[in-house]
Amino acid sequence: MDITTHEMERELKVSKIAENLIGSEIIKIANEISEKISQGEKIYNLTIGDFNPKLFSIPDELKEEIIKAYQNNETNYPKANGLPELRQAVAAFIKRLQPKLDYDADHVLISAGARPLIFGTYLALVDEGDTVIYPVPSWNNNHYTYLMKGNAVEVETQAENYFMPTADEIRPYIANATLIALCSPLNPTGTLFSKKGLEAICDMIIEENSRRLPEEKPLCLLYDQIYHTLTFGENQHYDPVSLRPEMKDYTIYIDGISKGFSATGVRVGWAFGPEKIINKIKAILSHVGAWSPRAEQVATANYLKNETAVNTYLHQMREKVQERLAGFYNGFEKLKQEGFAVEAIAPQGAMYLTVRFSLHSYKTEDGRVLETTKDITKYLLNEAKIGLVPFYAFGTSKESEWYRLSVGTAKVEEIEDVIESLRVALKKLVP
Ligand SMILES: Cc1ncc(COP(=O)(O)O)c(C=O)c1O
Repeated sequence: MDITTHEMERELKVSKIAENLIGSEIIKIANEISEKISQGEKIYNLTIGDFNPKLFSIPDELKEEIIKAYQNNETNYPKANGLPELRQAVAAFIKRLQPKLDYDADHVLISAGARPLIFGTYLALVDEGDTVIYPVPSWNNNHYTYLMKGNAVEVETQAENYFMPTADEIRPYIANATLIALCSPLNPTGTLFSKKGLEAICDMIIEENSRRLPEEKPLCLLYDQIYHTLTFGENQHYDPVSLRPEMKDYTIYIDGISKGFSATGVRVGWAFGPEKIINKIKAILSHVGAWSPRAEQVATANYLKNETAVNTYLHQMREKVQERLAGFYNGFEKLKQEGFAVEAIAPQGAMYLTVRFSLHSYKTEDGRVLETTKDITKYLLNEAKIGLVPFYAFGTSKESEWYRLSVGTAKVEEIEDVIESLRVALKKLVP
């Protein structure tokens, strides 16, 4: 037996961390949908947290700057914390949108999108066994806490609070916690923190830190505001340091161009916060080489300085996303009025609509009972041809009846068809 065959016959061993990685539920659903599409089925795929670039293209001015940067041979290593002109442009951009956030370029760190910065924040703050508190549903905190061998405390949030965690829900766990990871506007719900709700959490963190000894790690807050330019109507984005300046010592902000500028594939993200933490994240990520490409950095710096172009783009982006969210929301409201067991939460921000299907124990035409949320998800996919992500893919209990509907790939002219397809499928069910 040669070595290769021998190796093939026994299972190849990898690290425990790699072996036990939690598979993404979203990817499982996406694979099922791809399979159906490849078999020629027409599926309304509303599962993807990305944009269809034909419907949502990046700003023209940014595209031109990227091309220009490559033509100017901006192709060597960027600085480990990002090009100074981009860090300055980001600091100015933040100040324009959130006037109370006064950060200079040294407090800003650039990376290839938000993800490395989130992971870098965990790496810089969380030791094995440290407690990380995060709400569920939320996006990917379970994976980052797992990678750190942290102790995850998942706080299941309530629909009546728009799925945002409250200080009272978090308080029982903070005494030994190292990190609280929050996000607003929230993926997957498209809802926001209220001013009062976030203030109460900040006050709790400030009080907890006033109790801790100088030699102890403080309780830090990772605040992911990657969707903050996407808020609708009267809804306003609030952030910790603007509300409570004392939070500046403990808050690491995560942000970037991926969502607000529909530039998920361009890979420019930034974090800002206390200089020591930012420098540690920089040092850690420099070993990963998670830099944003130099040309994209030069281009983003030039683009962000173009205030008129940025304002115009953000305005039309908000309108396009809101139009879709409002279309689906109105459709769900209509279905509810018609007596179907569905509901939706009015969209506040991001690119997601929270919808509910209270269909447990309903019977299908052929007499099958929809016992689990998985059965409902399957029914919606097979009968209504609609792909949605159940909240349990974001950590809630498996029984949760709530779903994320993403509009980044939705065509306005198809919204009515989706609702009608849903209506026909719902009509076939017997309570
Ligand atoms: C809440 C949240 N933060 C961060 C990210 C990742 O952003 P990026 O693509 O810039 O890494 C996502 C992507 O879906 C997200 O939903």
